[in-house]
Amino acid sequence: RFDHSNSLLNTFTAEIRDSKIQKDSMRFRRNIERIGEVLAYELSKTLDYGPNTVETPLGSKKMSLIKDDLVLCSILRAGLPLHQGLLSYFDRAENAFISAFRHHPNNEDDFEVVVKYFAAPSLDGKTLILTDPMLATGKTLENVLNVLRGHGTPAKIHIVSVIGSEAGIDYVQKVFPTETELWIAAVDEELNDRGYILPGLGDAGDLAFG
Ligand code: PRP
Repeated sequence: RFDHSNSLLNTFTAEIRDSKIQKDSMRFRRNIERIGEVLAYELSKTLDYGPNTVETPLGSKKMSLIKDDLVLCSILRAGLPLHQGLLSYFDRAENAFISAFRHHPNNEDDFEVVVKYFAAPSLDGKTLILTDPMLATGKTLENVLNVLRGHGTPAKIHIVSVIGSEAGIDYVQKVFPTETELWIAAVDEELNDRGYILPGLGDAGDLAFG
């Protein structure tokens, strides 16, 4: 988590929360992408850098460039615009996709997270950036982590999210490796007994994709 209490990020999070503005699904997706871009930049400050020499038409310049092998992994489907935002900054990242949805076997108040689709490169020794715009109970991220364990051990994990609940953040900190870093645009205090973040923004998947 990092301090962004007075920053441009508030403009984007205010618009995706606003019940009138969020009805414009193209704007909603683009705002999530823009949050991904800002968080990519902030996260980039914590990556490893190595010396490189760039040849310009008039000479050469020594510069520090990112050394990490990045893998962006997004949770379908609400994660797609956030993924696109990060990918537009981390040009050479490899990509992984995983599906997860809440299944209500008995009633609306009771759910389990189901993972049905997964495609990823090896994660061994790489820097994994896991993206999901909503971190409500944290159960989705926990289930996704369990599937990812079968694909190698990343050197480092970053979680990128847009809105999280305090309870979900605590849960994720408990189940993920201790060195995992969380990048989140906004934190809300409440989580209702159906697992929805309050005041949150509603259902990010539906708002982005109908
Ligand atoms: C939402 C959201 C997260 C998950 C968060 O997905 O996009 O993936 O819930 O909840 P959790 O932290 O309590 O696990 P949803 O099931 O609505 O699917 P969708 O993205 O396809 O709409």
